[in-house]
Amino acid sequence: MAAGRGPKRRRSKNARGAGARRSAAKKASADTTRGRPKRGSSTPRREQDAFGHRAKAEGYPARSIYKLEEMDRRVGLLKRGQRVLDLGAAPGSWSLYAAEKVGPRGKVIGLDLQPHAIERALPACLELRVGDARTLDTASLGGACDVLLSDMAPKTTGVRAADMYRSYELFRVAVDAASELVKPGGAFVGKIFQGEDFDEGRAALKRVFKRVRTMRPEAIRPESYEVYLVGQEKRPERLPEPS
Ligand SMILES: C[S@@+](CC[C@H](N)C(=O)[O-])C[C@H]1O[C@@H](n2cnc3c(N)ncnc32)[C@H](O)[C@@H]1O
Repeated sequence: MAAGRGPKRRRSKNARGAGARRSAAKKASADTTRGRPKRGSSTPRREQDAFGHRAKAEGYPARSIYKLEEMDRRVGLLKRGQRVLDLGAAPGSWSLYAAEKVGPRGKVIGLDLQPHAIERALPACLELRVGDARTLDTASLGGACDVLLSDMAPKTTGVRAADMYRSYELFRVAVDAASELVKPGGAFVGKIFQGEDFDEGRAALKRVFKRVRTMRPEAIRPESYEVYLVGQEKRPERLPEPS
């Protein structure tokens, strides 16, 4: 997939020049790389709908593809020949994108409580399983991976504090899996809601990866509390928890 093909933006009366847009993008990126990013800084609804239409036209089951694509473009996560584990993989956009990026010599295993909804033939390097990441059988994965992705999200209840906490728990499951399964030097992307436990989630990831940054891709709905924590350069040993 070609990078950088976001939905077309309408040029408004107030449209700025390329220089101004670049510095705005730089500022947005700076906002999201240190600590908590600002909520509501994503793209408006009309453009959000365009992400959905584009995903359908390009054969991806969910618009979330463009979240991973943007993070991959900005950070350079996925490379040919890599092994990838994708937790919370259904309906399947991230797994499909990752399989396309790693190519036939790579391997992507996607796991979800739900079956996938990909409507085209799966690439040979992609295996999608139904199962619970909280009881992951690591021995069945065939070895360590280069990148662990987690877009896991709890079924929301409408009780904000409870939803935030469940998201944090799933994030910690993904960090523990990364600690065990990602090769030294490898990378991680995990979804987390911006709640009380966000800082603790970030600190937990920092004990496993040398570099951690917070990202809020444009395809996240403006009203959403979700962000992604990206870990790079997995440490050879996890640092101990502070006592
Ligand atoms: C936002 S969706 C993921 C979308 C996916 N990245 C894509 O691009 O198609 C979140 C997924 O997390 C899954 N999930 C939640 N808890 C899980 C768990 N304990 N184990 C595995 N998957 C889980 C849900 O079933 C849901 O399909």
